[in-house]
Amino acid sequence: METLIPSPSGHTNTKRLLDVLSGKPVDRAPFWFMRQAGRYLPEYRALRARAGSFLDLAYTPDFAVEVTLQPIRRFHPDAAILFSDILVVPHALGQDLAFREGEGPVLDPVAGVADLTRLSVKGFHDHLKPVYETVARLREALPDDVALIGFAGAPWTVATYMVAGRGTSDQAPAKAWAYGDSEGFQALIDLLVESTGDYLERQVEAGAETVQIFDTWAGSLPPSQFARWVIEPTKAIVRRLKQRFPNVPVIGFPRGAGPLYVRYVRETGVDAVGIDTALPADWAAEHLSPLAAVQGNLDPQLVVAGGAAMDDDVERIQSAFRGCRHIFNLGHGFVPNTPVAHVEALVRRLKGGEE
Ligand code: CP3
Repeated sequence: METLIPSPSGHTNTKRLLDVLSGKPVDRAPFWFMRQAGRYLPEYRALRARAGSFLDLAYTPDFAVEVTLQPIRRFHPDAAILFSDILVVPHALGQDLAFREGEGPVLDPVAGVADLTRLSVKGFHDHLKPVYETVARLREALPDDVALIGFAGAPWTVATYMVAGRGTSDQAPAKAWAYGDSEGFQALIDLLVESTGDYLERQVEAGAETVQIFDTWAGSLPPSQFARWVIEPTKAIVRRLKQRFPNVPVIGFPRGAGPLYVRYVRETGVDAVGIDTALPADWAAEHLSPLAAVQGNLDPQLVVAGGAAMDDDVERIQSAFRGCRHIFNLGHGFVPNTPVAHVEALVRRLKGGEE
């Protein structure tokens, strides 16, 4: 089903995203979008209907490759992100998982240390084989100027879903465990550090050229707990990846971390950091750009609105990062009601008339 996408003529085979991550000069800021594959695209909705469920889509390499390539054909961004989900890791550890229409993920909750015995690394990589195959096939199929990003959820964020058994607005169940029995919760986090590190290593072996660690709920922790549950687990994963693959850049996305972004970058050792919608771009350019490449941070709702409101913020973000190592992205993923025409207009602006 996958087809090779020709690179626009005149392009060299260097990848802007990898250049920025390794500190090389680029002709313009590379861009890609979180959730660039997804329900706002009619061709995604069609394939999703054919696959039956989200998990069938994610675990069938023919489908996952095709879905990953859909936004590449339309927009030719500087990177493709593997189509999968952060919750395949708990699933591969033996936790039941389903995605219900209109409800999001549903897992059999892991509510305390006693439940940890239900989880096991046995069969972990077998379960994830279709993901590794998807990565390998994508690497073959992608144009030579489009970088391939692998990803995983950070231990804290994945644990919030594992413990609650669903998405929550306040992450209360995971917090109750972490604050009330920090040693027991640490055992869950340690298991996730190990398995997530393994999982990312395999993605790199299969062909991922960089990886992003999504810590969607990092900003929900008080500063007193941030180092233990966000920084330390991420640092352990980065250290491990760097030992095996010193030249593979790691992008961290501790959404909502506010001023703690500085500590996160300094202490985890990430090469780039994704900033969320609420972080002022000029603050990030001043405090984070000296430490790492910075990725972000257009409000996805501005792409829903489109027009001058969107254009003004694109301009504001671009000028804040002028002269800095910047990867243009959203501050969080595209939402399903994003008009494709607004994404097209955004892409034209980001390419500044090239092609
Ligand atoms: O294009 C891409 O960004 C790559 C694919 C990707 C998905 N999920 C596909 C997906 C990535 C990188 C993720 C990460 C992810 N998954 C995160 C971290 C980033 C973030 O958005 O904060 C989280 C928290 C999850 C967990 C998750 N997956 C939730 C809470 C939901 C339900 C909410 C929703 O948007 O429906 C999902 C489902 C999901 N993952 C969809 C997609 C395209 C929609 C499923 C569908 O088609 O029905």
